[in-house]
Amino acid sequence: MAEPTKLLIDTDPGVDDAVAIFMALAAPDVELLGLTTVGGNVPLARSTRNALALLQAAGQSDIPVAKGASRPLRGRFRYAPQFHGPGGLSLRLPEPTAGPFEKGAVWFLADQLNRQPGKAILVALGPLTNVARLLWEYPAALEQAKNIVVMGGAVNTPGNVTPKAEFNFYSDPPATEIVLSSGLPVTVVDLAACRQVGISREQALSLHSAHPIGRLTLEMLQGWFGKDMGRQWFEFYDPLALAIALEPAIATFAKADLDVGLEENESWGETSETGGPGEISLPQQVDSSRFFGLLEGLLELEGF
Ligand code: BDR
Ligand code: CA
Repeated sequence: MAEPTKLLIDTDPGVDDAVAIFMALAAPDVELLGLTTVGGNVPLARSTRNALALLQAAGQSDIPVAKGASRPLRGRFRYAPQFHGPGGLSLRLPEPTAGPFEKGAVWFLADQLNRQPGKAILVALGPLTNVARLLWEYPAALEQAKNIVVMGGAVNTPGNVTPKAEFNFYSDPPATEIVLSSGLPVTVVDLAACRQVGISREQALSLHSAHPIGRLTLEMLQGWFGKDMGRQWFEFYDPLALAIALEPAIATFAKADLDVGLEENESWGETSETGGPGEISLPQQVDSSRFFGLLEGLLELEGF
């Protein structure tokens, strides 16, 4: 039997983070080694609580959750209640009975990566603060990753926080810069890629599933549409990053070298391509039917 894909997910749940986590939990050939949390969509205490609550709701409380950074390397997080709701999720979940792992996210990531050299894929779905700290504190650990997939950035496409900046990169540009300039072969799933995989209100509301995790996912997705009747379209940001980590052939890639705006003006957090070719893989064409096929298959969604 083939070895399962080992995943580490750094996250700030977040509605779309939750969908990505549910996809990983539903995948039969994935071993989720743990979640590490960061402030971002919501404050750290809330993203940690949400991570624990999601695992519990899916019946997988045995998976560890390690708490990471409550602040970016510079300044403070701004949070995104307008999109994710004040609590971060569009679904009420029971309070988790388990607590976070006794050691922090950075230690946990280093330990997991070093234990299984060349085996674990790190998927980063929030601000890159924990990943930058990992590079600082355990410089060799990230080299042990099989792959590093980051959701963030807006390359040659409008931003979603400022005209040019995307939320995760905008939340911690100094950390983003450390990761992008590390020379490691990072895959950056940016907004231009994610905008190729969206779903309309009508389509989302017509879906159903007999799979328990599929049902939870739909409650989350349909709940998001239910919070605001004006919402017509949902983009699968973090789920696309997770899908690309599992099946890279979902997209075609170009090699790029990316820079992030570090000046505290209107260019803060914006991504730009610098000459290149570099070590970063940037999705170009996303095969949306393959993405939806994976989503549908893992979560046993019906009604597409
Ligand atoms: C990213 O920002 C967050 O709000 C989402 O969870 C996603 O990680 C999209 O810009
Ligand atoms: Ca996220």
